[in-house]
Amino acid sequence: MGGPHFVPSQAKNWLMFNKRIKIKEILLQSPGQKGVVVMGWVRTFRNNQFIALNDGSTNLNLQVVLELGKFDENTLKRITTSAALKITGELVASQGKGQAVELIATELEVLGDSDASAYPLQPKKHSLEFLREIAHLRFRTNTFGAVFRVRHSLAFAIHKFFHEKGFLYLHTPIVTASDAEGAGEMFRVTTLPFDNPPRNEKGEIDFKEDFFGRSTNLTVSGQLEGELGATAFGEIYTFGPTFRAENSNTTRHLAEFWMIEPEMAFHDLEDNMNLAESFIKYIIQFAMDNNMDDLQFLDQRLAEEEKQLPTDKRSPMGLLEKLRFVLDNDFERITYTEAIDILLNSPAYKKKKFQYDVKWGIDMQSEHERYLVEKHFKKPVIVSNYPKDIKAFYMRQNDDGKTVAAMDILAPGIGEIVGGSQREERLDRLTQRMKDMHISEEELWWYLDTRRFGTVPHAGFGLGFERMVLFVTGMTNIRDVIAFPRTPKSAEF
Ligand code: 4AD
Ligand code: MG
Repeated sequence: MGGPHFVPSQAKNWLMFNKRIKIKEILLQSPGQKGVVVMGWVRTFRNNQFIALNDGSTNLNLQVVLELGKFDENTLKRITTSAALKITGELVASQGKGQAVELIATELEVLGDSDASAYPLQPKKHSLEFLREIAHLRFRTNTFGAVFRVRHSLAFAIHKFFHEKGFLYLHTPIVTASDAEGAGEMFRVTTLPFDNPPRNEKGEIDFKEDFFGRSTNLTVSGQLEGELGATAFGEIYTFGPTFRAENSNTTRHLAEFWMIEPEMAFHDLEDNMNLAESFIKYIIQFAMDNNMDDLQFLDQRLAEEEKQLPTDKRSPMGLLEKLRFVLDNDFERITYTEAIDILLNSPAYKKKKFQYDVKWGIDMQSEHERYLVEKHFKKPVIVSNYPKDIKAFYMRQNDDGKTVAAMDILAPGIGEIVGGSQREERLDRLTQRMKDMHISEEELWWYLDTRRFGTVPHAGFGLGFERMVLFVTGMTNIRDVIAFPRTPKSAEF
């Protein structure tokens, strides 16, 4: 056998990292061990003696104690905020408060220096706006450490939930030729030259010359392909990035966001709602079981933030209290028609507090959705059976001729978190609706085939992942729960 092969005894670096113990684990161990190796970044260094070391495994720092006189001046000078260190030492019971154990250093190596005068993060509170400008470093703060560990757990819980239920994880394409939502908010994908694109006889840009031989865009949703999977595997889900070129500069919209889209054969609207509700509860429970340290930190952070707000703007519940409440209570379920009646009868409407008008047929604005969940029901609400004119072509038409079997889940503090529906499985009804909405049957021939060959009642929904992370972390701006947000006029990092 030729070629290079791996010889552990010669792989110095491999051995070095292999021996490392994560701070999260060290903090659970009992005192007395010698030769403990940790690696991480300096958060603070006090009195030339106490290092607060963080390695990202937990928000808690390990206190490292340097015996006076044991390390030379030059080494001590290099222990600056965010310098990367390798420390070997003995784990002892801590003298200070706040931790059970601390590490008495016997060896210390500076792996990477950090020029403290140039380092933008100081051991003090920075505004979230400022941290957004240094998103490449903000993971090193307590807040973003907690947010991104919780985000990770939620992503893991999502796969666990569906895997346990026997759903197949389907990877749907990122580049597509269709507009699944029919909303036209797409980013084009092309390799044609801007300055002089090829044109056809009519003078239009000739996409036959483009890379894919047709006009393509980044996907807005994996649903249509998801339906193809569901009508063979029974139950599938997607979990991938989606893109929307809507010019909405709000705290709830991203141009690139992650969406989870389960799609299930042999499900009607009610089955769909039941699945969505148990899914949301499951992933919240998973975070509560696995990330309590981080959630407690975020709970306190939110409480501090809210102290700055006038009393009427504060949330009625703390973060953990809210999450427990959601787990312990059924979501409210109402129809769109009932929702409009509640709004029309509300003091807010009567006192003309809503900026946008309320009447049957409107696409509810976020002020309306938030009134329903935050003021009226004070819990998550599932609204169903929306007017067909404000919903996508694929939703199943109800017998009243006016509404479709759609459902949205609205969450306190967020608004719409889930959008879904039972799908129109009847070929004639579906093609009629597509004609009415000027959606090309030729382009979606493959989608319509599922209705031609063994069509079944089926349903699905999409959960906006970042909106879910907002809900669980208590953060208020969607830019703070995705690592590198893409929003209008902003794609740094
Ligand atoms: O309601 P939407 O547009 O539904 C769909 O795309 C369907 N194809 C889903 C399905 O039935 N399979 O989007 C679903 C969810 C919304 O409820 C919201 O949580 C999130 O995706 N979302 C966004 N999140 C962040 N930024 C945006 N610009 C978003 N647009 C939608
Ligand atoms: Mg929607």
